Order: sequence, then structure tokens, then C-alpha cells
Amino acid sequence: MKTLKIIFSCCLISSTAFSFAQDGKDLFAINCKYCHSIGNGTVVGPDLKNVEKKYSEADLIRWIKSSQTVIKSGDKTGNGLFEQFNEIIMPNQALSDAKIKSVIAYIKTQSENPVVTANAVSQQAPTATPKQSALTVILSTFKYYLIAIAIFFLTIIWVLVRVINKLSKALSEEYEKKTVATKIS
Ligand code: HEC
Repeated sequence: MKTLKIIFSCCLISSTAFSFAQDGKDLFAINCKYCHSIGNGTVVGPDLKNVEKKYSEADLIRWIKSSQTVIKSGDKTGNGLFEQFNEIIMPNQALSDAKIKSVIAYIKTQSENPVVTANAVSQQAPTATPKQSALTVILSTFKYYLIAIAIFFLTIIWVLVRVINKLSKALSEEYEKKTVATKIS
């Protein structure tokens, strides 16, 4: 019974750890991937491989929430990077501390043991531009919305077609009645 309990709690812990990493992966894909890679070099912003070793978690959270506030405060986080990256402003990320922590956890796991991802594929094909990858990010994010919108419009079209059919049937019946009436009179 005791071993069963241990096995059960291990499963629980590993599954929550997994969902944590999954969450971080999705958050990274939606919010950061457009500008950052993990181990595949500069995109718009710097490569984030091992960035969690460079700063404390608290510093990273402050930076990710508002990099300009950190830069203006004279803090050493991201020191000189703003100038180096042609003063491109990293937009403030409206994410909770917990979400940023799961992104950092994802960056950490990816830095330690990178799996074969879309990034690795784009490394094989150096012609892939950031614009293309942004498009794929957008498409993969909004895929379900697009499908839902398509179903919505198809339903509307179906309803309209039925209404048009009904109306034209009613009209032709009306027309027939009238022609019969004029014939009789
Ligand atoms: C619009 C592009 C853009 C997006 C989106 C973006 N960043 Fe950045 N990031 C940058 C740029 C550019 C820099 C370099 C510093 C600067 O110019 O302010 C940077 C710097 C950083 C740094 C400091 C890196 C170092 O080596 O010191 C971290 C950490 C970071 N970003 C994390 C993130 C995370 C996490 C996300 C997603 C939640 C994210 N960024 C989203 C553009 C972006």
C-alpha cells in the first residue's frame, strides 16, 4: 500500500512538472519565439540559452515584465544589450510571475537538453526568415479560432441558402396562383 502511495505521488509530481513545462513551452511560443531562440542564435533579440544562469529569477521576472524600467533604473540586467540590439525595445510582457517562472523553467530545460523542434529545422534551412516563423507561430496559435470562424460562416451561408430557397419557393407559388387567377378571369 505504501509503495502504491509513493508511485501515485511520483506520478502526480511528474505530471504537474510536465504540465508546467508544457505551459512554459506554449507561453514561450506565443510570447517570445518571435524574437528569441534558445540555442539557435539571435533572432530579433538575443539567444536565451542559459540566460537563467546569467541572472537571478527575480531579475529575470522584472526584466521580462518591463525591460525599459530595468534599463532606466541603471540595473545591470541586460547591460548594454539595448544599444547592441539597435535600441530595439523588448515589449513589456503582461504575464504573471508564475507564468514567467514556467517560461524560465522551459528556457532552462531547453538550454540543458534541446529537443528537435521547429527551431532546429530552421537551422537546417537558413533561408527561413523571422517573418515566416512569426507567421507559423500566428497560424498555429489561431488555428482553432480560424476553424471556428470558418464553421460559423459556413453555418450562416447554409441558413441563408435555406432562407433563399424557401423565399423563392413561396414567390413562385404566389406567381403560379396569380397566373391561374388571371387565366380564370
Ligand atoms: C519584439 C521582440 C521581443 C519579444 C517579443 C521578446 N523579447 Fe526579450 N529581448 C528583445 C530584445 C531586442 C532584447 C535585447 C535588449 C533590448 O534591446 O532591450 C531582449 C532581451 C531579453 C533578455 C535579456 C537577455 C540577456 O542575455 O541578457 C531576456 C531574458 C529576454 N529578452 C526574455 C524574453 C522573454 C522570456 C520573452 C517572452 C515572454 C521575450 N523576451 C520577448 C526582444 C524581444
